[in-house]
Amino acid sequence: MAFTFFFRDQQVLERVIEHLLPSLAGRSHPRIWDAGAAMGQEPYTLSIMLAEKMNHFAFNNLRIDATDVESTGQFAQMIEAGLYPKDELSRLPEGILDKYFEPNGKPEYFRVIEQVRRRVVYQQHDLLSFREIGHGYSLVLCKNVLLHFQALERIEVLKMFHRALAAGGLFATEQTQEMPPELDSWFERVTPDGQLYRKVEAA
Ligand SMILES: C[S@@+](CC[C@H](N)C(=O)[O-])C[C@H]1O[C@@H](n2cnc3c(N)ncnc32)[C@H](O)[C@@H]1O
Repeated sequence: MAFTFFFRDQQVLERVIEHLLPSLAGRSHPRIWDAGAAMGQEPYTLSIMLAEKMNHFAFNNLRIDATDVESTGQFAQMIEAGLYPKDELSRLPEGILDKYFEPNGKPEYFRVIEQVRRRVVYQQHDLLSFREIGHGYSLVLCKNVLLHFQALERIEVLKMFHRALAAGGLFATEQTQEMPPELDSWFERVTPDGQLYRKVEAA
């Protein structure tokens, strides 16, 4: 089972959202790609954090494409169900459990509410295929995944993200991941102290 948890890297996500929201203003159906999404804790965290910040209409037009290489269908099932054990939810920020999760008949489990669940669509995808799942993304989030790849694979994956992003789209990764210098002209750093980048068009 992949290691992940709700609200992991919360500060990174807060910063991403701060820069993402102004760029969503002119888009009718903005899309986000969460690559290496594991069992859904990350895309649902993102969905919850965006629900907190966006108006209902804009939020309901948003789509988060969550992908992972896992191929047995187990992650797909878990994300679709949106059911998580109570002990996984014990350290959520205050108020989040009551507002965004509901009991669902299964003892000791809570379900992500439908409004948040509907924003997340899962598909199986191998990043090392180097084939993007689509184009025009406002944000690609890929945390705690790239570190498992070889340096050259990482570069090809990042080039794939570049193709998938809309003009001016954002790419975010975990704090300890660095953009390879080979891609300096492909992405510009958005914040001096974080791993948040904006696509450079002419690369
Ligand atoms: C440590 S988890 C990170 C989950 C989440 N992004 C987070 O930060 O909490 C790494 C995930 O990357 C996925 N992964 C590993 N290799 C991959 C690949 N080639 N393509 C897509 N996903 C991959 C794993 O299946 C796992 O779910």
